[in-house]
Amino acid sequence: MKNRVANHPVLPLILERWSTRAFDPSRPVERAELGVIFEAARWAPSAFNVQPWRFVFALRGETGWDAMKDVLIPFNQSWAGSAGALICVVSQADAPGNSPGERFPSYSHSFDAGAAWALLALQAHSLGLSTHAMTGFDVERCKTVLKLPINMRPEAIVAVGRAGSADHLPEGLRERDAPSGRQAIEELVYEGTFGAPIDASSPRRGDVNGV
Ligand SMILES: Cc1cc2nc3c(=O)[nH]c(=O)nc-3n(C[C@H](O)[C@H](O)[C@H](O)COP(=O)(O)O)c2cc1C
Repeated sequence: MKNRVANHPVLPLILERWSTRAFDPSRPVERAELGVIFEAARWAPSAFNVQPWRFVFALRGETGWDAMKDVLIPFNQSWAGSAGALICVVSQADAPGNSPGERFPSYSHSFDAGAAWALLALQAHSLGLSTHAMTGFDVERCKTVLKLPINMRPEAIVAVGRAGSADHLPEGLRERDAPSGRQAIEELVYEGTFGAPIDASSPRRGDVNGV
């Protein structure tokens, strides 16, 4: 975990989660485990509590597995086939209006679904499961194969499983299978307006960037 040093005392779970590509093909994912991670996703916050996230899953070797795997680009297929489950995270692009039957374009459906995915990933990690999100898939084929209604946007397909040995990964991926680092907080966080550095002269400097 050499790339994972937090400058502030975040929850260990946040730092420990990372996206392996080395899933152990001998260890399946149980339906009950999927139930727990979907439950975590269900409790994500969303605008107006609309809860625009939807999940289509397939367990390896069971209904829908081959079809969902085939939607992935070849690179992702080369490793994600060892996962125990694939989950397509879908968001509803329109939201209910004030009058019955009225719908309007949602501003935040993808943002909300992203919150749900983050909770799902953290809950999975706490169960000993690894997750790896992918946007490397054929969007139009995905919509067709999964029979998505017209107002549903496939956001990502997530591989879920138990981490295994990187030795089984295709050439070139083995050495890349490690936790990654992050940009410094000063490069991401501004004070007052976009691009303005954090006020280092503030008497409360240590609150935000006191590293
Ligand atoms: C929305 C999304 C799409 C991604 N798409 C792919 C993908 O198609 N293939 C892949 O190998 N990794 C993919 N990743 C994994 C990211 O590269 C990875 O999350 C990032 O490098 C940070 O590493 P970490 O998750 O281990 O912290 C995706 C991640 C996210 C969140």
